[in-house]
Amino acid sequence: MINFNYHTPTEVVFGKQSEDSTASLIKKYNGTNVLIHYGGKSAIKLGLIEKITQQLNNNEIKYTLLGGVVPNPRLSLVKKGIEICQTNNIDFILAIGGGSVIDSSKAIAYGLKYKGDVWDLFCGKAQATDTTPVGAILTIPAAGSEMSDSCVITNENGNFKRGYNNTICRCKFAIMNPEFTFTLPEYQTACGATDIMMHTMERYFSPDTDMPLTDAIAEGLLKTVKNSTLEIIKNPNNYQHRAQIMWASSLSHNDLTGCGMTRDFATHKLEHELSAMFDVAHGAGLAALWPSWARYTMRCNISRFVQFAVNVMGVTNDFSNPEKTALQGIEAMENFYHTIKMPTNLQDLIGRKLTQTEITTMAEKCSLGQKTTIGSFKKLNYNDMLNIYNAANE
Ligand code: NZQ
Ligand code: ZN
Repeated sequence: MINFNYHTPTEVVFGKQSEDSTASLIKKYNGTNVLIHYGGKSAIKLGLIEKITQQLNNNEIKYTLLGGVVPNPRLSLVKKGIEICQTNNIDFILAIGGGSVIDSSKAIAYGLKYKGDVWDLFCGKAQATDTTPVGAILTIPAAGSEMSDSCVITNENGNFKRGYNNTICRCKFAIMNPEFTFTLPEYQTACGATDIMMHTMERYFSPDTDMPLTDAIAEGLLKTVKNSTLEIIKNPNNYQHRAQIMWASSLSHNDLTGCGMTRDFATHKLEHELSAMFDVAHGAGLAALWPSWARYTMRCNISRFVQFAVNVMGVTNDFSNPEKTALQGIEAMENFYHTIKMPTNLQDLIGRKLTQTEITTMAEKCSLGQKTTIGSFKKLNYNDMLNIYNAANE
């Protein structure tokens, strides 16, 4: 068990009508002049923009609206947001949406306090020491950004998708009403479930395996998300199951499921290159890569994969053949992805095989020009990255 610091300062307000407390929460965290940041149409269609602007009007809280965040949120809109906030003296950012909107909000919040180019933070040139407070009304459980210390932005200039982790960006509050997720298309529900599970799996497949309490939490979360996703596909308006997934989204990426363990996050890093280059949904990209990552790395610790197969995927343990059990666990995960219509290779994801040039470009970028490794379960160098991308491209 490694030493750890568990810091989750986000105030969670969960359940039906939880959005009614938005104005009081903004006041509690000293917001007087708010940027309401959202994506395309869903925040409007859900009636949230109208409801929240009315609430702010009733509470004499000033606001400015900025929509237009797209999945894999872009640096150009972040920069526009920073300018708008400076012109309007914004002191609080309210994100209404999913990971993309929350991350765009966090990046604007950093940019308001950082004197240089906000992209410096994402390419490791600087560290943020201050940020503007952000609160979120979550409409899609997936990225876990509502409680995470992470912010992921795509720079269109060169298609670089980079994450910046700093605990100061954690949301002041996260409002989660599962009813707002009834409208999610099956594809987005499945992408979300894949990402939620992956945030725990990236912590579960760790070189540290002496945290039975953390394992039990992780395995419980994974089984719950899997089961509730299958139920939601049958009945998208099932409040109970939507609620399980929504809460799991936050718990899976607020570090709870990884206390005492070294994170891996190699599949995430490999995926970020895919969504940077092809603008695919992050969850779908993860599903397309994970089986190849798993088969490539499983021999580093077969017993960990056996534990996953038996405790999470319900595989019967063949004690005489651990490798067979481990592989059956990976296949069971693949079958789950097939059931929820997620791709399990690059051809299914992109619609064609990738070229060798595309694969080498992604591996080059992911290894920062062959200078760095990713992952901890197995440290992956440039050649390992090529091998995994190629295996997913078979
Ligand atoms: O633009 P709108 O109309 O809002 O549509 C969105 C979007 O097209 C739609 N949607 C959202 N709520 C809806 C809805 N449609 C119907 N009903 C609703 N209630 O869903 C689509 C996807 O939204 P997005 O915010 O992109 O999804 P997600 O939450 O999966 O976020 C993905 C982004 O988060 C990053 C990903 O890389 C990607 O850029 N991540 C952020 C992390 C973090 N900050 O901690 C960690 C993750 O690993 C991830 O990397
Ligand atoms: Zn993710």
